[in-house]
Amino acid sequence: MCGIVGYIGKEEAAPILLDGLSKLEYRGYDSAGMAVLNDDEIFMTKSKGKLEVLNQLTHGGETLKGHLGIGHTRWATHGEPSDLNSHPHLNANGTIAVVHNGIIENYAKLKEKLIKKGYEFKSETDTEVIAQMLDYYYNGDPLCTIATVMQRIEGSYALGVIFKDTPDVLYAVRKDSPLIVGHTDGGSIIASDVPAVLKYTRDVIFIENEEIVTLKDNEIKIFNIDREELDKPVKHIDWDADAAEKGGYEFFMLKEINEQPKAIKDTFSPRIKDGKIVIEELLMSEEEIRNIKRICFVACGSAYHTAVTSKYIFEGLARIPVDVEVASEFRYRDPIIEENTLVIVVSQSGETADTLAALRLSKEKGAKTLGIVNVVGSSIAREADMVMYTWAGPEISVATTKAYSAQLIAEYLLAMHFANVKGNLSDECLEEMIEDLKALPEQVELLVNNRKRVQRFANRYLAAKDVFFIGRNVDYAISMEGSLKLKEISYIHSEAYAAGELKHGTISLIEEGTLVVAVATQEEVYGKTKSNIVEVKTRGAVVMSVAVEGNSDIEDVSDYVIYIPETNKYFMNSLAVIPLQLFGYYISLGKGYDVDKPRNLAKSVTVE
Ligand code: G6P
Repeated sequence: MCGIVGYIGKEEAAPILLDGLSKLEYRGYDSAGMAVLNDDEIFMTKSKGKLEVLNQLTHGGETLKGHLGIGHTRWATHGEPSDLNSHPHLNANGTIAVVHNGIIENYAKLKEKLIKKGYEFKSETDTEVIAQMLDYYYNGDPLCTIATVMQRIEGSYALGVIFKDTPDVLYAVRKDSPLIVGHTDGGSIIASDVPAVLKYTRDVIFIENEEIVTLKDNEIKIFNIDREELDKPVKHIDWDADAAEKGGYEFFMLKEINEQPKAIKDTFSPRIKDGKIVIEELLMSEEEIRNIKRICFVACGSAYHTAVTSKYIFEGLARIPVDVEVASEFRYRDPIIEENTLVIVVSQSGETADTLAALRLSKEKGAKTLGIVNVVGSSIAREADMVMYTWAGPEISVATTKAYSAQLIAEYLLAMHFANVKGNLSDECLEEMIEDLKALPEQVELLVNNRKRVQRFANRYLAAKDVFFIGRNVDYAISMEGSLKLKEISYIHSEAYAAGELKHGTISLIEEGTLVVAVATQEEVYGKTKSNIVEVKTRGAVVMSVAVEGNSDIEDVSDYVIYIPETNKYFMNSLAVIPLQLFGYYISLGKGYDVDKPRNLAKSVTVE
């Protein structure tokens, strides 16, 4: 989703903006632009395409001189990707420039009103309405004007704004789209996310909803919408700067696949003490845990897939009924939340608009809420009653891998803890499971190191048109993630099916040479899945199976087998997902795509 950077200070702004925007590329974008104030005039360059185009157009920022600037990477929502629709947007006489992340929901109505008053629009964007509204309400006091406009616009927004009249101030605002601010050496900076500012500062302030910021080179002030000044805490970010860089890998995705053993370990280690699971963030007494009547998981994308896995685990292990729902459905269907329901929202970014809205709705309905979140200080982390962090570190590639793996671990820990507290999992069994958990990082590393085997198979199927992923039980959840990984970065149509559902329709799509990926790690249904493999093979499918070491009879019915080591049945996802991530990665790589930035997709989906 769109990324914002803004700078005011002693340095030239444009190179800092370009650098910051490059760190936000992972969010997904289709055009980029910058506006810089110089000699009482706002100069702007913007263009459809990659940041490199903007870099070249401005000679690395050299053609845009000045010490106050705003920059933007745009992920098109209103209006196609084009030079004109790119941000920044200006008012008619070019005295106000705006960059925006989010969606102005009532923009059409506002635009109509402004047109009646004689305003003309150059773009199809909702953002241009903000620039024109700022112009319309401008009374010589930018702070007051911004507050007035905020009261009239609906939707989500993080804005960076420059007024020609105040050349020593950068303005920023947030509502439901992320925004951070901080001091640099000799200046101040704003951005949508931490990686953009890490090079300049490690001390940032997370801006909350409906807060307005004024930044000067040596001063940052934050106000509420009534323009009362606020005192906000500064948060120190101790991320390793290298963690946000590629470190020798061709793509972040492969780097992040390799980082999974660490992500897994960092997520469980601090929560295992003396053979017990201790989740300090879980502000629930044992009695409250025993009283949970239902758990409702809400998430999007891969985070949703971890929740599908968790349904099997929580129900199997802790005997607590679990509902799993995609956030965009949950939020608009007036869900029934009864007493003693725990809502768990899962999100890497902590900013996904639908997941955040689902969290707010759950709170309104009286549920206790727990966020499983990767980005420290993100909106979901701040707003959930309790937050359990996944310690995966910054994840850049749009297709998630290490955050997904860390989410699974957090969910295993919770399920095991709940089961133990409820008396459904003895201390002995818990200890055995903990041992299995501790073995996972090494097992994952082994699978990652065997990647060439997956690559060889992937290279044979670069021209595949349709791929079907099948599995039962937890293997079905893994299939969903494997299918998503493949389609999102390789643009090959793929679908996941509960293997038993095949014969109710999908099997008619199987023909000579169709690729089927079968996941068969679950002992109880192993024979059943094998039968399903035979069914597709007899209809001409080529089958790659993922099975547990020792089950070599799977080779009789498969064309290619990837074995995973033995672990607890509930942890199989953590291992089986590795070859599937690698499969998607190598197909995308083989097809020559930009693996980290797949078309049309965004890392952090901060709009609906
Ligand atoms: C996007 C990303 C996915 C992610 C989903 C949910 O679609 O590309 O990788 O699973 O959003 O994001 P979240 O940040 O809430 O986990």
